[in-house]
Amino acid sequence: MTIVVTGGAGFIGGNFVYYILKNHPDDKVICYDKLTYAGNLETLADAQDNPNFKFVRGDISNRAEVYKLFEEEKPEVIVNFAAESHVDRSIEDPELFLRTNIIGTSILLDACKKFGIKRFHQVSTDEVYGDLPLDRPDLFFTETTNLHTSSPYSASKASADLLVQAYQRTYQIPATISRCSNNYGPYHFPEKLIPLMIINALNGKKLPVYGTGENVRDWLYVEDHCAAIDLIIRKGRVGEVYNIGGHNERTNLQVVKTILKILGKGEDLIEFVTDRKGHDQRYAIDPTKISTELGWNPTTKFDDGIQKTVAWYLENRGWWEKIISGEYKEYYSKMYDNR
Ligand code: NAD
Ligand code: TYD
Repeated sequence: MTIVVTGGAGFIGGNFVYYILKNHPDDKVICYDKLTYAGNLETLADAQDNPNFKFVRGDISNRAEVYKLFEEEKPEVIVNFAAESHVDRSIEDPELFLRTNIIGTSILLDACKKFGIKRFHQVSTDEVYGDLPLDRPDLFFTETTNLHTSSPYSASKASADLLVQAYQRTYQIPATISRCSNNYGPYHFPEKLIPLMIINALNGKKLPVYGTGENVRDWLYVEDHCAAIDLIIRKGRVGEVYNIGGHNERTNLQVVKTILKILGKGEDLIEFVTDRKGHDQRYAIDPTKISTELGWNPTTKFDDGIQKTVAWYLENRGWWEKIISGEYKEYYSKMYDNR
């Protein structure tokens, strides 16, 4: 099978490339990535020598480039990870999110319509469901929960989901969608909560917790997410949405304190800063459908996954030190100085 992984030089896409090469050695994997600030060829360094792997630089919102990709590579499956993915950046500047996440997805779908495809899989997020109140721990997102977005990021992802469903119904594109909770693990870009806190703690910098740190996220180890997508593209039913999550809910403060404890650092590094605008309170996935229908269940508990993740950042300083010495510095001072 020839699989095009868009956004494969990013966090989850990169992990997915390795997952497929390891678990399906007969598959051919083509990573198609624009290499934005979040894309990093060093993430794919260990795949470059694999004869079943190829990297193609390109933009999902460039129609000519996407059509050329389809003509030359003749993909059977597309897994679309490519996106602008950071909520804080979307609050600062929404437009690029609309171009990449909505227009880009529509161009990929047009290519599927024009050239044909066996499966188009859209990697979506639980953020399309909005948030749940903190005082209702009995509530969870199911696949039929209404779409109700809070940030330009989540609105763009929900728009893309609706387009995928429209193309599936109107043009019979064999599409599936997965909506996953927050991921963590190796190669996670340091603008996101977990890697940012690990790296700041290692560098003796303050750990900026938004608001009171009571917001809840449902954390999934990235390899479990990759396993779920792999099952969906092979066994999932066309036209279906699958929620992915593992009942690993933690408040942000719990996450930050756990990281400090693993690193043997004091909680005096925590600094409460101005809250995110429109900050979602709680995300929590009900994964019953994918568990009963496809037999997927997460294998890594948060307490083990976070240990493995911290160990990875300790062992791979070169990967992240290069990132934080570049344009990331400007980003950090724009977002965090005077917050
Ligand atoms: P990321 O920001 O780490 O990586 C995104 C990748 O997409 C980068 O390699 C970037 O270069 C590439 N890209 C961006 N714009 C592109 C374009 N126009 N054309 C081609 N490539 C482009 O993101 P991530 O955290 O790995 O998330 C991947 C996907 O999973 C996204 O669609 C995101 O919405 C979704 N998702 C993420 C999480 C999470 O916790 N990180 C949870 C659920 C769903
Ligand atoms: P993030 O990793 O940006 O993921 P998302 O917003 O998609 O859930 O943030 C996770 C949580 O951590 C979210 O509630 C915002 C919070 N947060 C902080 O408190 N401080 C930070 O510096 C960052 C980046 C996030």
